Amino acid sequence: MRTIVIAIDGPAASGKSTTARLVARRLGYLHIDTGAMYRAVTFRVLEEKIPLENADRISALAEKTQLRLEKGENGLRVFVDERDVTEQVRSAQVTRSVSIVSSYQRVRNVLVREQRRMAEGGGVVLEGRDIGTVVLPNADLKIYMIANMPERVKRRQKDLQGAGVDIDGVALEREISERDRLDSTREASPLRKASDAIEVDTSGMSVEDQVEFVVARAKEIIEGGGR
Ligand code: DC
Repeated sequence: MRTIVIAIDGPAASGKSTTARLVARRLGYLHIDTGAMYRAVTFRVLEEKIPLENADRISALAEKTQLRLEKGENGLRVFVDERDVTEQVRSAQVTRSVSIVSSYQRVRNVLVREQRRMAEGGGVVLEGRDIGTVVLPNADLKIYMIANMPERVKRRQKDLQGAGVDIDGVALEREISERDRLDSTREASPLRKASDAIEVDTSGMSVEDQVEFVVARAKEIIEGGGR
């Protein structure tokens, strides 16, 4: 059976992560959450107390940090220098700082190289902001996910409540909009839809529908010959 490379891009809380994880499970593929990699570097930056505007020190840290994603029982586990930081990378402070850290080109160079290496054999679902445009422009299937703001706020609120955090909708909307702005206006690999990506508006869709849609497109390609 041929294996393909699937790229799923889109803004924060658009449904990427859940879809990518479940599509990977359905196809028996590896799920690579590239946002978690930027979050892991950001966690180390905060731990080292490096000022967020110090691009040189942040880049040097990214260059010497060992990152690893491992499939766990409840989704991916994130390791930095062999330390499990899965919970820490989801903290509010990391979420607030990650758009700045990920805007530095040298940081991106390190992580993109690693992402390409992980995708080499195919059989992978990568999710992020620039997978279809920069990391893997030759991906077999490119999906660009969007959702309306009320839906995105609702989803993020549900995720956070699951982790025991209560945040009001207005604050969440402000945070999501600010991340959209930073991620799509930065100079290095800004968030944008690849011209050959299929846009999926997940606002009115159930998770099952989202997964089914991507799996069906993937199967057409796999059965039609893949790469
Ligand atoms: O998907 P996420 O919210 O975990 O991503 C966290 C941040 O990482 C996001 O705000 C921008 C950055 N990111 C990126 O620049 N490029 C990617 N491929 C993935 C994430």
